[in-house]
Amino acid sequence: MKIAILGTGYVGLSTGVCLSQIGHQVTCLDINEQKIVQLRKGISPIYEPGLDDLLTMNMAAGKLKFTTSQPEALANAEIIIVAVGTPQGDDGAADLSYLVQASKDISSYINHDTIIVIKSTVPVGTNDFIKKLIEDYCGFPVKMVSNPEFLRQGSAIDDTLKADRIIIGSENEEAASKIQKMYRPLNVEVIITSTKSAEMIKYASNAFLATKISYINEIANLCEAVGADVQDVARGMGKDKRIGEEFLYAGIGYGGSCFPKDVKALLHTAGVNGVKFPLLKETIAINDFQREVLVAKVLKRFGGLKGKKIAMLGLAFKPETDDMREAPSIPIAAALTKYGAEVVAYDPVATDNARKIIGDSIKYAGSIDEAVHEADAVLIVTEWKEVKSIDVAEMLAKMKEPIIFDGRNCFPEETIRACGSVEYYPIGKPAI
Ligand code: UGA
Repeated sequence: MKIAILGTGYVGLSTGVCLSQIGHQVTCLDINEQKIVQLRKGISPIYEPGLDDLLTMNMAAGKLKFTTSQPEALANAEIIIVAVGTPQGDDGAADLSYLVQASKDISSYINHDTIIVIKSTVPVGTNDFIKKLIEDYCGFPVKMVSNPEFLRQGSAIDDTLKADRIIIGSENEEAASKIQKMYRPLNVEVIITSTKSAEMIKYASNAFLATKISYINEIANLCEAVGADVQDVARGMGKDKRIGEEFLYAGIGYGGSCFPKDVKALLHTAGVNGVKFPLLKETIAINDFQREVLVAKVLKRFGGLKGKKIAMLGLAFKPETDDMREAPSIPIAAALTKYGAEVVAYDPVATDNARKIIGDSIKYAGSIDEAVHEADAVLIVTEWKEVKSIDVAEMLAKMKEPIIFDGRNCFPEETIRACGSVEYYPIGKPAI
C-alpha cells in the first residue's frame, strides 16, 4: 500500500520504518528540513536500538522515503497516518495545534478513498473533531481511523513489529478493514472499536501503567518502613497472572514524554466531563514525591552537601534512549546543586540533550570512572546496562567514600555484600 506519514518523531519514524519493512511503500513528511536532510542520508535523529539498520535497508530498497514536500508525500497516498506531537498545554490538556495544522495540510490532497489515520495520542472526541475540520475544508465525507500506538522508547521497533495488540477505532467499516489489512503481515491480534473507545484505550493504558508504577513505589516506601524487600514483594505479586510481572519495578518515579503528560491529560478530560478521578491525582502526587526520595536519603546521610562531590550515573529518563523529557535526573540534579553539592554526571547517550536542559550547573563526565573519581557518593539514576554491569568493588575503590544511593535497585545483595566496606541505600529494601 502507498502510505504517507506526517511527523518523524519517535512514533512516526518507528511506524514508517516498520511499515516499509513489512512491504509497504512509505513516504515520511516533516516540516523540519534539517531532520529530513539527515534522514535521507540514513541518519536517525533519535537514538533507538535497531532503527538505523531498518532505516538504511528500506531506503536502499526504495520502500522508504523522506520529504518536506506535501504534494510529494500526500498527493497519491492511499493511507495518511498522522503522528505529530500533542504536547501538554498550559492547562494540562493536550495541545492539538500541530494536529490541526496537519489536518488542514492534508485536506488539499485527499480524495474520497483516502484513509486518514490518527496515531498521535489525542483526547477522546478528537478524531470526530478532526474529521469535521477536514470535511469543512475538502467538502466531502472522509474516512477516519483512530489507531493509537503502544511502543516504548528504547524498544520501539520490537514493540511495533511484535505488538501485543493493534487497536483500530473507526465508524467506517471499509476503512477499518483496510487498516487491518495494512497490518496483516505483522500477525498481531487486532481489536476493532469505536473511535472514542480507541482514543480512550490509549490514555487508559498509559494511566494504568503509571498508576501501577506509583502503586509499587508506595509499596516500596512502606517496605522500607517495615523492613521488607520490594523486589521480593513485586516478584511474589507479579506471578499472579491477574497482576502481571511487568511495570512493578520500584524506583524514582516515571518520566518521559508520555506518562506524565498523558496522566494529566486524562485527568483533564475527566474534569471537563464532571468525573473527579482522585486515583489519578494520587498517581501524580506519588510520582512527584518519589522523585525526591533519593535526594532525601542523601541529605539524611550527609546532613549538608557543601563540598561533597556526588556522581550521578544515568541522566536519560530510562535506559536505551537519549530522551531527557521529564527525566527524574532533572529535579535530582537541581536539588543536589541547591544543597551545594558538586555533581558530576555520566550517561552513555543522553549527555548532549541533558546539557540543553540542566545546563552548566553540573559537570558531565565522559565515563563512569571519571564521574566516580574521588566522589563522596554515587547516585544511580538510570539503569543502563553499562551501569548494571559495573564492577562495584572497583568503582568503590576509586571513590573517596564507598557510598551508593541506588534509585533503580541495580545490584543484587550478594554483589554489594561481597564488596566489604560499603554503604548501600536501595529503594524499598533494607540498606546495607
Ligand atoms: C510508554 C508506554 O510504556 C508505551 O506503551 C506507550 O506507547 C508510550 O509510553 C507512549 O505513550 O508513547 P515510554 O514512555 O517510552 O512508553 O517508556 P516506559 O518504558 O513505559 O517507561 C516510562 C517510565 O516509567 C520510565 O521513566 C521508567 O523508568 C518508568 N518505569 C517503568 C518504572 O519506574 N517502573 C517500571 O516498572 C516501569
